[in-house]
Amino acid sequence: MQDIETLESELLGEINNANDLDALEAVRISALGKKGRVSLMMRGLGQMAPEERQEVAPRLNKLKQSVADAIDQAKSGLNKKAMEARLAAETIDVTLPSRPENLGRIHPISQVVDEITEIFADMGFDIAEGPDVEDDFHNFTALNIPPEHPARQMHDTFYLPEKEDGSRQLLRTHTSSVQIRTMESVEPPHRIVVPGRTYRSDSDHTHTPMFNQIEGLVIDKTSHMGHLKGILKEFCRAYFEVDDVEMRFRPSYFPFTEPSAEMDIRCTFAKDHIKVGEGDDWMEILGCGMVNPRVLAHCGIDPTEYQGFAWGMGIDRIAMLKYGIPDLRAFFDSDLRWLKHYGFVPMDVPTLGGGLSR
Ligand code: DAH
Repeated sequence: MQDIETLESELLGEINNANDLDALEAVRISALGKKGRVSLMMRGLGQMAPEERQEVAPRLNKLKQSVADAIDQAKSGLNKKAMEARLAAETIDVTLPSRPENLGRIHPISQVVDEITEIFADMGFDIAEGPDVEDDFHNFTALNIPPEHPARQMHDTFYLPEKEDGSRQLLRTHTSSVQIRTMESVEPPHRIVVPGRTYRSDSDHTHTPMFNQIEGLVIDKTSHMGHLKGILKEFCRAYFEVDDVEMRFRPSYFPFTEPSAEMDIRCTFAKDHIKVGEGDDWMEILGCGMVNPRVLAHCGIDPTEYQGFAWGMGIDRIAMLKYGIPDLRAFFDSDLRWLKHYGFVPMDVPTLGGGLSR
């Protein structure tokens, strides 16, 4: 049998020389593994005379212990070294300037949704959302558009296949459906805006089958058209970033509001862009009105106690207006060159204090 002390110093030397975890593991197996050198010696104890065994066994145990301890110690040393190397390799210099050009661009629609919600959130509105796939009740009936109402034809609705009970879901034709969902599920008063995708079977250079709207709804006991006009005026000033915007309300008709109006803003159509707030032309940007008492009743709200107003606006159109984007269809082409030109730097988050669009 090899001399125990010699083996110990040999093994400790090998442990010392192992300069990575794999090498250390190889030494461990060669010493303490099933057929390792220390293990084989311990197995030899069985063949020894009792007196000899009494003398050798404690020394072997000591050897085993000292080799195991040395391996543990070497292991934690190597782990520490590996961690230090990794930390050194992965340092980031946080003082370097940012490189937003590598982050892609924010789509103008996303930018405009952020700008609009920032403006209304600042006025105390909550942001609400609802499903794109709607049922007939929320998109039509509850909004005072019963089955045979001519407004249904005007909406060019995309219907889903008929279900077993004969009903058909649809892609919402306007964000007004979320008025209903909100009034059904939360107690009044309400003060919400609802940005979202909407769908109609319609396509030319000013219409796409999918487009974006933002809905507003205010319900309490005293709100009236004057408040509506004030809110919309403040919105236009903030959104178009001008001191004043002249607005015009034309009487109109929507089944879900009474009275109803459409709002135009004063503008000029220059060669390749539109200027807001001056000129001889008018641009229609939204529909609005006092919420029809029948709509309140459909949502379980007592119309003799509550009243309020609503509006709905095409986001794509006011995005085109503000940023001089000539063709609506380009919004949805996913052309990276277009996005690079019209898109926004992701780190410039729109705020009222810091500026909506920089
Ligand atoms: N839902 C209408 C549309 O898509 C827009 C609208 C008009 C919404 C008047 C309203 C409103 O909330 O009061 O054409």
